[in-house]
Amino acid sequence: MLYHLIRPILFRLDAERAHDAVTAMLRVASRAPLLPRLIGALYAWDDPMLAVEWAGLRFASPLGVAAGFDKRADLVDALALLGFSHIEVGTVTPRPQPGNPRPRLFRLPEDLALINRLGFNSPGMVAVAQALRARRSRNVILGVNIGKNRDTPLERAVEDYAATFVALAPLADYVAVNISSPNTPGLRRLHERAALEELLRELMRLNRNLAHPRPIALKVSPDETPEQIEEVVQAGCEAGVAAFIAANTTLAREGLRSPLANETGGLSGRPLAPRARQVIRTIYRLTRGTPPVIGVGGILTAEDAYLHIRAGARLVQLYTGMVYAGPAIARDIKRGLVHLLHRDGFASVTEATGVDAEREGVFRGQG
Ligand SMILES: Cc1cc2nc3c(=O)[nH]c(=O)nc-3n(C[C@H](O)[C@H](O)[C@H](O)COP(=O)(O)O)c2cc1C
Repeated sequence: MLYHLIRPILFRLDAERAHDAVTAMLRVASRAPLLPRLIGALYAWDDPMLAVEWAGLRFASPLGVAAGFDKRADLVDALALLGFSHIEVGTVTPRPQPGNPRPRLFRLPEDLALINRLGFNSPGMVAVAQALRARRSRNVILGVNIGKNRDTPLERAVEDYAATFVALAPLADYVAVNISSPNTPGLRRLHERAALEELLRELMRLNRNLAHPRPIALKVSPDETPEQIEEVVQAGCEAGVAAFIAANTTLAREGLRSPLANETGGLSGRPLAPRARQVIRTIYRLTRGTPPVIGVGGILTAEDAYLHIRAGARLVQLYTGMVYAGPAIARDIKRGLVHLLHRDGFASVTEATGVDAEREGVFRGQG
């Protein structure tokens, strides 16, 4: 309700400044006396039907915050208050880097979308490690999304991922390996089989050295062909990846109405949903949910989340939805999900995972 009053004011600001203003308020609110309780009372809401397990981790609900929203890892406490079960911070690079020049984040309200070309603005792994050690809330699952510095040549990318992994994996519940941002030149070439195998081999080796190895998820692009996705899934499964995150932002621009549609960068939000869902379905059909898919792209409502889950996602994440729907989005989506599960006769969210992918697979088999 309240967000509908504030949104027009925020939308008059440059998109990145609006993000900075909102996150600064969230940060202050989460550290003030009493306010966290009030915020928690407004937004905390869960139902046992929504509980999900993955890799030995117990999630209160499938819904988390996608990478990019909290690149500095200093919003974990605040986002936990809003009712998300998990928060994926990052992408974090080994050394600090500023990212691309501003403006580099654009709102496309006519399309309920964003275009960003931030280019991994990151305080670097040392600062993020410090922020993670300072966090208070332990009731939320924490993922760290890792990447490479822009000026590290692709041939040496493994060293960057290895360094961030070693620095940050011990402070996280899971690690997401980002090979799919469209804003770091050449990054997506890490989808190629030989490069991907080398990267995953090294990360798995480092993981085995940890006292408690972490689940490693691989975040893929929605702009690869189904054949490429199949190769990535094969390589990921052989290496022992614990999940695939589908998907990152897209370079596609079909059917947009906004005048900013041709800005360079990755598109997120509503127009990404069908494309992300296609990738979720493709991966689910290959893995049958082992390892699972984490579905992300264009979730603004409970119905959107539900369709990702039915397409094969065990967990789901969002970023752009928060910009358009505001801080109540997690609570509203969770309530809506419970309603949709009841409507369709499912006893739990896990029961609904992949039912559409299975059904279409059967039809296809029969046809
Ligand atoms: C401004 C912005 C920054 C992002 N930064 C990252 C990032 O650093 N690492 C990453 O893996 N994904 C990043 N993403 C992609 C999101 O995590 C997500 O995959 C994508 O936005 C689709 O979800 P959505 O439609 O709910 O936003 C970013 C997205 C946006 C909008």
